[in-house]
Formats: sequence, C-alpha cells, structure tokens
Amino acid sequence: MLDKVATWQPMLAADLKHLKRLSDLLFPDYLEDYEVLEERWKICPLGCFILKNYSFNAVGYALAHPAKLKAPPKENRIFIVPEDADCFHIHDICMLYDYQGYGYAGRVLRDIAAYALERGFNKLAIVAVHNSRRIWEKYGFKPLDDETYQQKIKADYGDDCFYMVRTIEA
Ligand SMILES: CC(C)(COP(=O)(O)OP(=O)(O)OC[C@H]1O[C@@H](n2cnc3c(N)ncnc32)[C@H](O)[C@@H]1OP(=O)(O)O)[C@@H](O)C(=O)NCCC(=O)NCCS
Repeated sequence: MLDKVATWQPMLAADLKHLKRLSDLLFPDYLEDYEVLEERWKICPLGCFILKNYSFNAVGYALAHPAKLKAPPKENRIFIVPEDADCFHIHDICMLYDYQGYGYAGRVLRDIAAYALERGFNKLAIVAVHNSRRIWEKYGFKPLDDETYQQKIKADYGDDCFYMVRTIEA
C-alpha cells in the first residue's frame, strides 16, 4: 500500500519540469507544449498542485485558474484571463494509473475549491474528457444545461466530452 501513498502539494516553479511528461502520458490525445502548461501555472500558481508519492516522485498534477464560464482556454493555446472571469476553470486533473481510483481527485478538488472561494469565485468548471462525466458527477459537477454549447464541446474535444460546472458551497 505504501507505494500508493501520495500527497498533493502546491506546485512550485521547480515542479514544472514534470508537467510535460505527465501530460503527454495521460492526455496523449490532447498534446500540449511545455510553454502552454507553464503559462497555465503562471496565471495562478496557488490554484495548481502536484501529486508526489512517498519517494517524492511527481505522479500527478492539477492546473486551475480563473476564466469565464463557457469560455475555457483553447487546447495548446496561450490564454489571457478576461476581466469578467466568473469561475475557476480546471484545466487538468490527472495522476498516473497506479494512483487512480484512490480519491486523489477529490482531495485536490477540495484544495482548488477552497482557493477559488478565497479569490471570490463560487463556481468550478471542467471539460470532462476520457468519458469521465460520472467521476465529476460524484464530486458535485453537473453538465451545463445548454445543448448547443455541449455540441460545441463535443466538436472541439470529442463525442464523450461534457462541459461541467459545480457550485462551491462556502
Ligand atoms: C479522472 C481522474 C482524475 C479521477 O481521479 P481519481 O482520484 O482516480 O478519482 P476517484 O478515485 O475518485 O475515482 C473515481 C471513480 O473512477 C474509478 N476509477 C478511477 N480511475 C480508475 C482506474 N484507473 N481504473 C478503474 N476505476 C477507476 C474509481 O473506482 C471511482 O469509482 P467509484 O466512484 O465508483 O468508486 C483519474 O482517474 C485520472 O487521472 N485519469 C487520467 C487522466 C484523465 O482522464 N483526467 C480527466 C480529465 S477531465
């Protein structure tokens, strides 16, 4: 069991070197350049976390930052946060296969939600990819009730994808 023990920690500049490797492994269908991942972190370092195992190896990460609902960053493109940002967008949450299914997503969601609230945002948004809708529903997200927009998400990301939103309770 010890080999599955990991903890989320604030993502520091020194952790950025791990992002590209993990992102390529876990999102091979949504490849992003190192510069884009680094830029997402720079938008909001305190909204980003790295999962380290007991040997201090990076085994997962979460990137989140302010954005406008229904206007997530485009994949692999630099993003400018609009002045009227009204949600915290979760760009990626992921962990290596050996660490999946242990509730690590729920733990980092608590950290992200707490920080978003502190910043004055009471909504989290995510594009659920890889048929993950059910996982996010377990954590309180609901598909946005806007069929036209969901069709756009499917066209941009794939047929099994949904734009999902969760209200953060204070
Ligand atoms: C999606 C992901 C972030 C979920 O995180 P997690 O910490 O594994 O989530 P949980 O432990 O809460 O598991 C959620 C559910 O999925 C199941 N699950 C998750 N990963 C699994 C796996 N690899 N194999 C089998 N079941 C798995 C869990 O059993 C659980 O089901 P339950 O609610 O019926 O118990 C993680 O699985 C992951 O990194 N996947 C690859 C990257 C990815 O696709 N990210 C989604 C971006 S939108």
